[in-house]
Amino acid sequence: MTDTSHSALPMRTDMCGELSANDVGRRVSLCGWVGRRREHGEHLAFVDLRDRTGYVQCVVDGAHDLRSEYVIRVTGTVRHRPEGTVNPNLSTGEIEVGDCEVEILSVAEPPPFPVDERIDTDETIRLRHRYVDLRRDRMQRNLRLRARVNSAIRRAMEEQDFVEIETPMLIASTPEGARDFVVPARLKPGSFYALPQSPQLFKQLCMVGGIDRYYQLARCLRDEDLRADRQFEFIQLDAEASFASQDDVLAFITHAVSAAVEAATGDTVSDIPRMTWLEAQERFGSDKPDVRFGMELVELTEVFAATGFNAFKAPCVKGIRVPGAADTTRNQLDALTDTAKRYGAKGLVWMKVEEGGTISSPVAKFLSEPELSGIAEALEAKAGDLLLLVADERDAVRHVLGLLRLELGRPPVNEGGFQFLWIVDFPLFEGLDESGSPIPAHHAFTMPHVDDMHLLDSTSGDDLLAVRSQSYDLVVNGWELGSGSVRIHRGDVQSKIFGLLGITPDEAQVKFGFLLDAFRYGAPPHAGFAFGIDRLVAILAGEENIREVIAFPKTQSGADPLTNAPTPLEPEQLAELGLRTLPPKA
Ligand code: AMO
Ligand code: AMP
Repeated sequence: MTDTSHSALPMRTDMCGELSANDVGRRVSLCGWVGRRREHGEHLAFVDLRDRTGYVQCVVDGAHDLRSEYVIRVTGTVRHRPEGTVNPNLSTGEIEVGDCEVEILSVAEPPPFPVDERIDTDETIRLRHRYVDLRRDRMQRNLRLRARVNSAIRRAMEEQDFVEIETPMLIASTPEGARDFVVPARLKPGSFYALPQSPQLFKQLCMVGGIDRYYQLARCLRDEDLRADRQFEFIQLDAEASFASQDDVLAFITHAVSAAVEAATGDTVSDIPRMTWLEAQERFGSDKPDVRFGMELVELTEVFAATGFNAFKAPCVKGIRVPGAADTTRNQLDALTDTAKRYGAKGLVWMKVEEGGTISSPVAKFLSEPELSGIAEALEAKAGDLLLLVADERDAVRHVLGLLRLELGRPPVNEGGFQFLWIVDFPLFEGLDESGSPIPAHHAFTMPHVDDMHLLDSTSGDDLLAVRSQSYDLVVNGWELGSGSVRIHRGDVQSKIFGLLGITPDEAQVKFGFLLDAFRYGAPPHAGFAFGIDRLVAILAGEENIREVIAFPKTQSGADPLTNAPTPLEPEQLAELGLRTLPPKA
């Protein structure tokens, strides 16, 4: 006869959440944490035993002092649950483990918050005890999803002949526009390494080095204010390809994104539609439009071309229609007006569409009949709708209505599927600084659109702002997922751009000399892209904050309550680095 006692079985024969009625009669050995317990008198307890796969109920008799989160090993026999006690909500709800021998592997103090419940726990407490938090189903699911996505992306890039190359972490500053994290150089006191904001310059050097197609799941560091979609450290799928056009890059990245979506959901993404930056701004007031819902911005400038209403004598008037929102109260409308002003609006006109189509609004008396009917027609207004109108400079109107639209209509992140969208034809410059120099919209190595090259010689600010670039963003459900561009590989074009940006040849040499030097030795035309893995996984997991898909993230204030980072250095360590700290600013 086989010995099926506690000691004769391996440490673990099965996973808790994988047992089913097929296992009835088997003697199994399980390891995990004690979840909920229901005591029945002194000598019988029902214990939910939990491991990464889920729970199984163990019926433990005899006096065992089992507390929450004790780590135990249970050897027992799988059996059907008695009639009437089957739990259809649990994958193992048909069975239980009886005749249990229990071994306590680790005792545990009471957990700082319950592991088994999906109750809201303060973020700092969750992060302070992240090792407990990680045991929860939500974190287990999210981190495993992340691992599947990473692996699918690697496979997809390798299928397309991209080669994984690791670029250094201790570098000179990269030009992504955020603040650098820096590391003091012990061997060169007073000098610092920067941590990479992205591998941008190294991947371009790889192209000069004949790598042809590079990719990396690259760790990037940026010292910027943290938000739901921003951490100090994050991971990009970073890629670059030689002799590749914009279309080639979009196809490579579509394949990787599709593989990630398939790993997460089983569905593929065959084709991602494209929209120009200008269209996105005009219709959605954003360069990362959430196209899962309507409420598009509607052009009304023409309707008010000859208006007598002062507020609408502006370069641009647009409106949005909020379906069925005519019952919005006066207080809510006042609050909405305040919100619009916080977004930079000079004011907000609201109109309610009554039964029969009459428009009621505090400003209706200032508007002519043709203006009122023009509004109703352009916005396709129906009885019961609320209409919101803003007049101002064109970019201000887009900005305010784009934000109001999100405020009023944006669905939760996990609703309506995944609406991926390429935004193309970004402007090369996003504005002019005080001295009239253009500010780059992407980085300074972005190739201008071939059709707009001649405008670079113009002295007019408007002409410069009209220059499109060969850069593109990937957007999903209103989130910017990634960006990329065709790069400048020609010295003459690069010098011209630096000149426009007010970067002197000397400055350029100091900052990017190594890249410019490399380009003198045979640079292939190249283009690339990077998208945020944290953001993609958060969207796929239905999470609004990327923290939920990162094992050990920072809090909003950039702290790690688990390790207490950042911490001061010991005086000896400072001395070794040749550093002295100033007292904190008051
Ligand atoms: P960019 O700066 O647009 O482009 O970054 C690409 C993507 O990286 C993600 N990302 C972040 N994710 C989390 N926290 C952050 N703080 C954070 N910052 C950026 C976003 C973003 O879309 N080198 C270029 C790419 C290229 O041109 O090839 C770059 O880094 O998802
Ligand atoms: P005023 O003439 O400033 O008293 O504004 C009359 C109404 O028009 C108020 O409801 C304002 O909120 C609104 N308003 C003023 N300026 C604008 C604007 N630029 N766009 C939209 N509404 C405006």
